[in-house]
Amino acid sequence: MKILLKNIKELLQVRETPPSRVCGSDMKTLPTLKNAWLLIENETISDYGEMHNFIEIETDKIIDCTGKIVLPAWCDSHSHLVYAGNREQEFVDRIKGLSYQEIAERGGGILNSAKKLQQTSEEDLFIQSSQRIMEVMQLGTGAIEIKSGYGLTTEAELKMLRVAKRLGKEFPITIKTTFLGAHAVPEEYKNNKTGYLDLVCNEMLPLVAKENLTEFVDIFCETGYFSVADTNKLLSEAKKYNLIPKIHVNQFTAIGGVKAGVAHQALSVDHLEVLTDEDITALQNSKTMPVALPSCSFFLSIPYTPARKLIDAGLPLALATDYNPGSTPSGNMNFVVASACIKMKLTPEEAINAATINGAYAMNLSQTHGSITKGKSASVIITKKIPSYGFLPYAFGSNLIDTVIVNGELV
Ligand code: NIG
Ligand code: FE
Repeated sequence: MKILLKNIKELLQVRETPPSRVCGSDMKTLPTLKNAWLLIENETISDYGEMHNFIEIETDKIIDCTGKIVLPAWCDSHSHLVYAGNREQEFVDRIKGLSYQEIAERGGGILNSAKKLQQTSEEDLFIQSSQRIMEVMQLGTGAIEIKSGYGLTTEAELKMLRVAKRLGKEFPITIKTTFLGAHAVPEEYKNNKTGYLDLVCNEMLPLVAKENLTEFVDIFCETGYFSVADTNKLLSEAKKYNLIPKIHVNQFTAIGGVKAGVAHQALSVDHLEVLTDEDITALQNSKTMPVALPSCSFFLSIPYTPARKLIDAGLPLALATDYNPGSTPSGNMNFVVASACIKMKLTPEEAINAATINGAYAMNLSQTHGSITKGKSASVIITKKIPSYGFLPYAFGSNLIDTVIVNGELV
């Protein structure tokens, strides 16, 4: 199948030899081609160029993109999209004054989702999650990472990862999975956190590795959840199975998780709403990608990741949704990009780099996703007719997407 996109007003993130990630002041540059064409063959981008150099070719489908902008589909490197039910009641409780932490202390939060998920069949979990996958593809996401962590028993954690894997087989979207058994301490282990961590390390990890269910490992390194010592322990164990860390750190408190992540060569450290100078120093000269989740900050009314501080220190930044039932019941990368501009003072160029090429890096997908490059996945967004790409974050509440193509398939 050959699809030709013609008369593209502007083709964004065009990189002949793409870097694996974009850092610091380079994030201000978004390479584009005006009045362009793009050729898709099966699942890949096979060629592109400017209309004045265009030579007619035989294709199966032509899409006229007059007045429209084309960009790589979003790369959402952090989500918990496989979950059961919702936590709408906790949302109302927070409106009435309870904090996210207070709700968790009362057995709500992650434990509430775990209870629901344990009682949900694998098939039902797949059906519920399929709806969300279809939704995020329509919103322009072409690759997404999905974590476990609402199982908290060996059986339920494996169930989550199997569902996430199956989504990747049944939908065109590229899916990467992460094992997050250390997301919270389950009720049964309330007074025995060590016992639970041992279960994660000695029973869950080997099974997850044996069934080839993931390439990444995560832990919620946070006051009241897992300490830096717990993090060191789990990540050392996970290394034996060649699992690469992508960890939750600095959401509410800075306890040294960033430094620990960097020491374990984490691919990414995510959240970072609270950030110390020491954390920034740890990230410099590392290959670890800092990831900000602005729609989580929006939903929980917590601080936004100080993204300017990170970028101005020469660091890269990726943006992701954190799509989950408790802290971010939204998988909308368009909103993430807009809120990064509005609340974190990223320029549109920086935000688009963070949500495409750097998002791909944070999922180990640099070779195939995140830019318009020959040979990469044909996953693109075609916008409606808009004046310029800055209009995407500017008109933050509008649906500006006309068509999405994911791995060569029209969504
Ligand atoms: O990234 N912070 C830890 N985990 C999720 C939310 C978990 C939940 O509330 O269900 C997050 O925000
Ligand atoms: Fe998360």
